[in-house]
Amino acid sequence: MNETMPDRRLTPLDRLLEQADLALRAAVGRPHAQRPNPAGGLDGHLVDEAERSHVAGLIRVDHAGEVAAQGLYHGQALTARRPEIRAAMKQAAIEEGDHLSWCYDRLHELGDRPSLLNPLWYAGSVAIGAVAGAAGDRWSLGFMAETERQVEGHLDDHLSQLPAADARSRAILEQMKADEVSHAEAALAAGGSELPGVVKRLMTLTAKVMTRSAYRF
Ligand SMILES: [Fe+2]
Ligand SMILES: [Fe+2]
Repeated sequence: MNETMPDRRLTPLDRLLEQADLALRAAVGRPHAQRPNPAGGLDGHLVDEAERSHVAGLIRVDHAGEVAAQGLYHGQALTARRPEIRAAMKQAAIEEGDHLSWCYDRLHELGDRPSLLNPLWYAGSVAIGAVAGAAGDRWSLGFMAETERQVEGHLDDHLSQLPAADARSRAILEQMKADEVSHAEAALAAGGSELPGVVKRLMTLTAKVMTRSAYRF
Protein backbone atom coordinates (compact mmCIF):
# COMPACT_ATOMS: atom_id res chain seq x y z
CA MET A 1 0.00 0.00 0.00
CA ASN A 2 1.23 3.49 -0.82
CA GLU A 3 2.02 5.04 2.60
CA THR A 4 1.87 8.58 1.26
CA MET A 5 -1.80 8.11 0.33
CA PRO A 6 -3.98 10.30 2.57
CA ASP A 7 -6.19 8.27 4.94
CA ARG A 8 -9.43 9.86 3.65
CA ARG A 9 -8.98 8.01 0.35
CA LEU A 10 -8.85 4.61 2.02
CA THR A 11 -12.01 2.51 1.78
CA PRO A 12 -13.12 0.43 4.81
CA LEU A 13 -11.72 -2.65 3.04
CA ASP A 14 -8.35 -0.93 2.55
CA ARG A 15 -8.28 -0.13 6.26
CA LEU A 16 -9.19 -3.69 7.20
CA LEU A 17 -6.43 -5.11 4.99
CA GLU A 18 -3.93 -2.58 6.31
CA GLN A 19 -4.85 -3.54 9.90
CA ALA A 20 -4.58 -7.28 9.13
CA ASP A 21 -1.12 -6.71 7.64
CA LEU A 22 0.01 -4.68 10.67
CA ALA A 23 -1.37 -7.35 13.03
CA LEU A 24 0.48 -10.21 11.36
CA ARG A 25 3.77 -8.32 11.29
CA ALA A 26 3.50 -7.31 14.96
CA ALA A 27 2.12 -10.46 16.53
CA VAL A 28 3.91 -13.25 14.68
CA GLY A 29 6.46 -11.73 12.30
CA ARG A 30 9.96 -10.42 12.72
CA PRO A 31 9.78 -6.67 12.13
CA HIS A 32 12.58 -4.89 10.34
CA ALA A 33 14.58 -2.54 12.59
CA GLN A 34 15.38 0.93 11.30
CA ARG A 35 18.30 1.48 13.69
CA PRO A 36 21.24 -0.86 14.34
CA ASN A 37 20.91 -3.25 17.28
CA PRO A 38 22.46 -1.51 20.36
CA ALA A 39 24.02 -4.84 21.42
CA GLY A 40 26.49 -4.44 18.50
CA GLY A 41 29.54 -6.62 19.11
CA LEU A 42 29.03 -6.85 22.89
CA ASP A 43 29.31 -10.14 24.76
CA GLY A 44 26.26 -11.83 26.23
CA HIS A 45 27.00 -15.53 26.37
CA LEU A 46 25.38 -17.11 29.42
CA VAL A 47 26.78 -20.49 30.47
CA ASP A 48 24.51 -21.16 33.43
CA GLU A 49 21.19 -22.67 32.22
CA ALA A 50 19.09 -21.21 35.05
CA GLU A 51 20.53 -17.77 34.29
CA ARG A 52 19.94 -18.11 30.54
CA SER A 53 16.37 -19.25 31.11
CA HIS A 54 15.64 -16.36 33.49
CA VAL A 55 17.03 -13.76 31.07
CA ALA A 56 15.05 -15.34 28.23
CA GLY A 57 11.90 -15.04 30.38
CA LEU A 58 12.60 -11.35 30.99
CA ILE A 59 13.25 -10.61 27.32
CA ARG A 60 10.14 -12.61 26.36
CA VAL A 61 8.14 -10.30 28.65
CA ASP A 62 9.77 -7.23 27.07
CA HIS A 63 9.05 -8.57 23.60
CA ALA A 64 5.40 -9.26 24.54
CA GLY A 65 5.21 -5.71 25.92
CA GLU A 66 6.38 -4.36 22.57
CA VAL A 67 3.81 -6.52 20.74
CA ALA A 68 1.18 -4.99 23.04
CA ALA A 69 2.58 -1.49 22.34
CA GLN A 70 2.12 -2.14 18.62
CA GLY A 71 -1.49 -3.14 19.29
CA LEU A 72 -2.17 -0.08 21.44
CA TYR A 73 -0.80 2.37 18.87
CA HIS A 74 -2.57 0.63 15.99
CA GLY A 75 -5.82 0.71 17.97
CA GLN A 76 -5.34 4.37 18.90
CA ALA A 77 -4.64 5.22 15.24
CA LEU A 78 -7.90 3.52 14.23
CA THR A 79 -10.06 5.82 16.36
CA ALA A 80 -7.93 9.00 16.55
CA ARG A 81 -9.97 12.17 15.90
CA ARG A 82 -7.33 14.35 14.22
CA PRO A 83 -5.30 13.11 11.22
CA GLU A 84 -2.04 14.35 12.78
CA ILE A 85 -2.68 12.28 15.91
CA ARG A 86 -3.48 9.24 13.75
CA ALA A 87 -0.23 9.78 11.86
CA ALA A 88 1.70 10.22 15.16
CA MET A 89 0.30 6.92 16.49
CA LYS A 90 1.26 5.07 13.32
CA GLN A 91 4.73 6.62 13.45
CA ALA A 92 5.12 5.64 17.12
CA ALA A 93 4.32 2.03 16.19
CA ILE A 94 6.96 2.08 13.44
CA GLU A 95 9.60 3.45 15.83
CA GLU A 96 8.65 0.85 18.46
CA GLY A 97 9.32 -1.76 15.75
CA ASP A 98 13.04 -1.41 16.56
CA HIS A 99 12.37 -2.58 20.12
CA LEU A 100 10.29 -5.48 18.86
CA SER A 101 13.05 -6.52 16.48
CA TRP A 102 15.91 -6.20 18.99
CA CYS A 103 14.03 -8.25 21.64
CA TYR A 104 13.14 -10.86 19.03
CA ASP A 105 16.79 -11.19 17.99
CA ARG A 106 18.01 -11.44 21.58
CA LEU A 107 15.47 -14.15 22.36
CA HIS A 108 16.75 -16.17 19.43
CA GLU A 109 20.38 -15.61 20.45
CA LEU A 110 19.41 -17.04 23.84
CA GLY A 111 17.99 -20.08 22.07
CA ASP A 112 14.46 -19.24 23.16
CA ARG A 113 11.11 -18.21 21.66
CA PRO A 114 8.59 -15.35 21.87
CA SER A 115 5.45 -15.68 24.00
CA LEU A 116 2.86 -18.06 22.51
CA LEU A 117 0.20 -15.64 23.74
CA ASN A 118 1.43 -12.71 21.61
CA PRO A 119 -1.58 -12.78 19.23
CA LEU A 120 -3.81 -12.48 22.31
CA TRP A 121 -1.82 -9.52 23.73
CA TYR A 122 -1.94 -7.85 20.35
CA ALA A 123 -5.71 -8.28 19.84
CA GLY A 124 -6.54 -7.14 23.39
CA SER A 125 -4.25 -4.13 23.00
CA VAL A 126 -5.88 -3.05 19.73
CA ALA A 127 -9.25 -3.08 21.53
CA ILE A 128 -7.90 -1.09 24.51
CA GLY A 129 -6.08 1.33 22.19
CA ALA A 130 -9.25 1.88 20.15
CA VAL A 131 -11.16 2.75 23.33
CA ALA A 132 -8.39 5.17 24.39
CA GLY A 133 -8.42 6.75 20.92
CA ALA A 134 -12.22 7.09 20.96
CA ALA A 135 -12.05 8.88 24.32
CA GLY A 136 -10.41 11.81 22.53
CA ASP A 137 -6.92 12.85 21.51
CA ARG A 138 -5.91 14.36 24.87
CA TRP A 139 -6.81 11.14 26.70
CA SER A 140 -5.22 9.04 24.00
CA LEU A 141 -1.94 10.96 24.34
CA GLY A 142 -2.22 10.74 28.13
CA PHE A 143 -2.70 6.98 27.81
CA MET A 144 0.38 6.82 25.58
CA ALA A 145 2.45 8.73 28.17
CA GLU A 146 1.29 6.47 31.02
CA THR A 147 1.96 3.32 28.96
CA GLU A 148 5.51 4.51 28.26
CA ARG A 149 6.07 5.34 31.94
CA GLN A 150 4.94 1.89 33.01
CA VAL A 151 7.15 0.23 30.40
CA GLU A 152 10.07 2.31 31.70
CA GLY A 153 9.38 0.91 35.19
CA HIS A 154 9.39 -2.67 33.89
CA LEU A 155 12.64 -2.09 32.02
CA ASP A 156 14.25 -0.68 35.17
CA ASP A 157 13.22 -3.77 37.09
CA HIS A 158 14.53 -6.09 34.35
CA LEU A 159 17.83 -4.18 34.09
CA SER A 160 18.35 -4.73 37.82
CA GLN A 161 17.86 -8.50 37.33
CA LEU A 162 20.27 -8.97 34.40
CA PRO A 163 23.48 -10.88 35.15
CA ALA A 164 26.66 -8.80 34.84
CA ALA A 165 27.85 -11.06 31.99
CA ASP A 166 24.89 -10.13 29.77
CA ALA A 167 26.08 -6.89 28.19
CA ARG A 168 23.96 -7.55 25.08
CA SER A 169 20.58 -7.59 26.84
CA ARG A 170 21.65 -4.63 28.97
CA ALA A 171 22.52 -2.48 25.95
CA ILE A 172 19.17 -3.27 24.30
CA LEU A 173 17.05 -2.60 27.40
CA GLU A 174 18.95 0.62 28.18
CA GLN A 175 18.31 1.99 24.69
CA MET A 176 14.65 0.96 24.92
CA LYS A 177 14.33 2.71 28.27
CA ALA A 178 15.83 5.93 26.90
CA ASP A 179 13.39 5.79 23.95
CA GLU A 180 10.35 5.16 26.19
CA VAL A 181 11.27 8.15 28.37
CA SER A 182 11.35 10.41 25.32
CA HIS A 183 8.09 8.90 23.97
CA ALA A 184 6.34 9.72 27.27
CA GLU A 185 7.70 13.28 27.22
CA ALA A 186 6.62 13.75 23.59
CA ALA A 187 3.07 12.51 24.34
CA LEU A 188 2.72 14.94 27.25
CA ALA A 189 4.21 17.81 25.22
CA ALA A 190 1.69 17.08 22.44
CA GLY A 191 -1.15 17.74 24.92
CA GLY A 192 -1.68 14.44 26.75
CA SER A 193 -3.80 14.63 29.91
CA GLU A 194 -2.84 12.95 33.18
CA LEU A 195 -5.03 9.83 33.50
CA PRO A 196 -7.32 9.22 36.52
CA GLY A 197 -5.71 7.01 39.21
CA VAL A 198 -8.23 4.22 38.67
CA VAL A 199 -7.28 3.92 34.98
CA LYS A 200 -3.58 3.84 35.87
CA ARG A 201 -4.21 1.08 38.42
CA LEU A 202 -6.19 -0.91 35.86
CA MET A 203 -3.28 -0.55 33.42
CA THR A 204 -0.82 -1.76 36.10
CA LEU A 205 -3.03 -4.76 36.82
CA THR A 206 -3.35 -5.66 33.13
CA ALA A 207 0.43 -5.37 32.71
CA LYS A 208 0.95 -7.65 35.72
CA VAL A 209 -1.22 -10.40 34.18
CA MET A 210 0.63 -10.02 30.90
CA THR A 211 4.16 -10.04 32.35
CA ARG A 212 3.49 -13.06 34.60
CA SER A 213 2.09 -15.15 31.76
CA ALA A 214 4.56 -14.03 29.09
CA TYR A 215 7.53 -14.93 31.37
CA ARG A 216 6.42 -18.59 31.27
CA PHE A 217 4.39 -18.98 28.09
FE1 LIG B 1 9.08 0.22 23.16
FE1 LIG C 1 7.73 3.71 23.50
